[in-house]
Amino acid sequence: MTHDLKWSDAPPGEVRDPVGIWIVRAPAGQHLSDGGPPPDWFDERERRRLASIPQPAGREAYVFAHWALRSVLGSSLGCSPRSVGFLRQPCPGCGGAHGRPAIRDPGPDSEALEFSMSHSGDHVAIGVAEATIGIDIESWPTPESVAGYLPFLHPKEQQWLGGRPDDELVRDFARLWTRKEAMAKATGQGMAAIMNRLDLTNQPLGWRVRQLLAPPGYEASFAVPASVHVDVTMHDELPEPMPEPVAMPEPVQV
Ligand SMILES: CC(C)(COP(=O)(O)OP(=O)(O)OC[C@H]1O[C@@H](n2cnc3c(N)ncnc32)[C@H](O)[C@@H]1OP(=O)(O)O)[C@@H](O)C(=O)NCCC(=O)NCCS
Repeated sequence: MTHDLKWSDAPPGEVRDPVGIWIVRAPAGQHLSDGGPPPDWFDERERRRLASIPQPAGREAYVFAHWALRSVLGSSLGCSPRSVGFLRQPCPGCGGAHGRPAIRDPGPDSEALEFSMSHSGDHVAIGVAEATIGIDIESWPTPESVAGYLPFLHPKEQQWLGGRPDDELVRDFARLWTRKEAMAKATGQGMAAIMNRLDLTNQPLGWRVRQLLAPPGYEASFAVPASVHVDVTMHDELPEPMPEPVAMPEPVQV
């Protein structure tokens, strides 16, 4: 059953930007045949990435996340998931082809559609908006793994996390990390540019980072420009895929 949840951070009278958020769990028992071919709707970049993932569970999660993204975008664009194609914008740091993903040939009415996607464990989070958006979902780490990452955070973040009992530490670290990754994706810069340079215990200048309601054991956040007041609808199920276009028969010559 779908449970849609709506909320807004817009003061009365302010213009609201609609944001669709999907946090969806991969259905159990969805299997890629081990070593079998990738889905025929994968593009070349996805094929290469899939081939580089060593664990079957990781490959399944990757395929599900990319199917989920195509389903959501297909539904927003009014086309079938298979016909959604992607390109990468230039990285704002170095100009390389690993910046924000974007829709290839979105059609005349959909130029403003922005999106972001994240996967962790068997969950995927997708944000779709007219404004720039970055989203991240993370499962709670172990205290040992938090200890490994702590020295790489901004000094104020290290201070903020310091001295917490383990159960609060893993939750709050995951919250902070999703804020950082949401920013890394909204700006397209990647984590290296954010890691110890941006303090996410506060709202970063020019951006608004919001925590999302996440499944137990997970945290999720999204980031949008500070000028944007969001009108959020959260979904926990994927939309029904739009049907494939029907091939018209060749006209018969008489
Ligand atoms: C982008 C990044 C934050 C993603 O985090 P992650 O923990 O690896 O993975 P997530 O599941 O949360 O998100 C992955 C999705 O983010 C999106 N993504 C990848 N690069 C992105 C970028 N530059 N901007 C916005 N979104 C990006 C993609 O949709 C990706 O999905 P895919 O890997 O399945 O295709 C992280 O991988 C990173 O910092 N990469 C480094 C980018 C880089 O090369 N920078 C060099 C600067 S010169």
